[in-house]
Amino acid sequence: MKNLAAIFVLLSQLFGQTVGNKDIPVTAVKGESWISHLHKRFSDTSMGKTWHYGPVVPMPGEKSTGGQQRLSLDFAARTMIFHGSDVYRLNCRGCHEESGHGAPPEINSVIDPVRATSVEVIMARMKKVGMNMSRTNATLLTKQSNTALLDRFHKGGQDMPPFPQLSEPEIRSLLAYLRQLAGVPGAEREQVAIKESPSHVGEQIVKSTCHICHNAVGPNPNPQQILEGTIPPLSTLTTRTSMPEFVRKVTAGAPISMGTAPLPYRGRMPVFDYLSEDEVANAYLYLTLYPPQE
Ligand code: HEC
Ligand code: HEC
Repeated sequence: MKNLAAIFVLLSQLFGQTVGNKDIPVTAVKGESWISHLHKRFSDTSMGKTWHYGPVVPMPGEKSTGGQQRLSLDFAARTMIFHGSDVYRLNCRGCHEESGHGAPPEINSVIDPVRATSVEVIMARMKKVGMNMSRTNATLLTKQSNTALLDRFHKGGQDMPPFPQLSEPEIRSLLAYLRQLAGVPGAEREQVAIKESPSHVGEQIVKSTCHICHNAVGPNPNPQQILEGTIPPLSTLTTRTSMPEFVRKVTAGAPISMGTAPLPYRGRMPVFDYLSEDEVANAYLYLTLYPPQE
């Protein structure tokens, strides 16, 4: 009985802090990839790179050590509960890494701009260098930093894409997580949960991570073109691969046919092992239900 009551309190706390996310409609992914937009070559950028690659291709006669599928049967029907850390994982981690440090000088760290939104952090920093700053002035500074940070999500940066797919509750929970990541005192207590529909989970993964490298639409490349570096557009992926193949390619890595022979090769695409199989299956579903557009 005691345990049940404790669970009830926990659940009501969790759901009490849960905000709905119905204000923002899911839309199809559109246009060229972010690296094409920036005229960057795949080989010359750290964007979207986890630096983890799939298994090497087994020798003839050898058994492949393909990953086990751990997909839930009801993945497409289940509302997911996300925290700011999940919003960060799906939308920011592909460029800024788990730590938030990114890959300077191309991808700046998120830590300092986030620390600049805290009055406590600013005042402590000023004191350290022997300057006294009033709380009023520190507050003024944090307001500017906050506006700059919010602007970045709506308008993007110089080389960073905007995030119109994120709702206000998602951005608020993301900001709370960024403060925790940056070590702002007390930030752990600000974390809130949000409900996420399966298609919106897929939308975030595709628009914020896959669209860094994959164009939305375009011709389906043959193995020779893949060898020469063409990245198949998002519109071709759901016919090129089945859902289990797609999930495996993203979460564990899978070989692809390249060249004229055509030989299977482990490929150049990084592995996103921080995405769950259910989340990636929802990306497949999203691409099927909302076909990519020009
Ligand atoms: C496609 C890669 C990419 C993604 C995805 C991305 N960023 Fe960035 N981000 C960059 C680049 C490149 C810069 C530095 C150049 C610029 O400001 O545009 C940057 C800079 C920043 C900065 C400012 C650093 C400074 O020195 O002022 C912050 C803060 C930031 N990103 C936060 C985020 C957050 C939060 C997310 C997730 C919602 C995110 N970024 C997703 C590429 C990315
Ligand atoms: C850093 C760039 C990059 C990012 C980000 C990226 N991909 Fe890829 N992807 C590639 C490249 C390059 C290929 C070509 C084949 C290879 O090298 O493995 C590819 C191939 C694929 C294939 C294989 C198609 C086939 O015929 O076997 C699938 C499926 C795929 N990507 C899905 C995704 C999904 C889903 C995401 C987002 C979670 C994603 N990719 C993010 C670079 C990327």
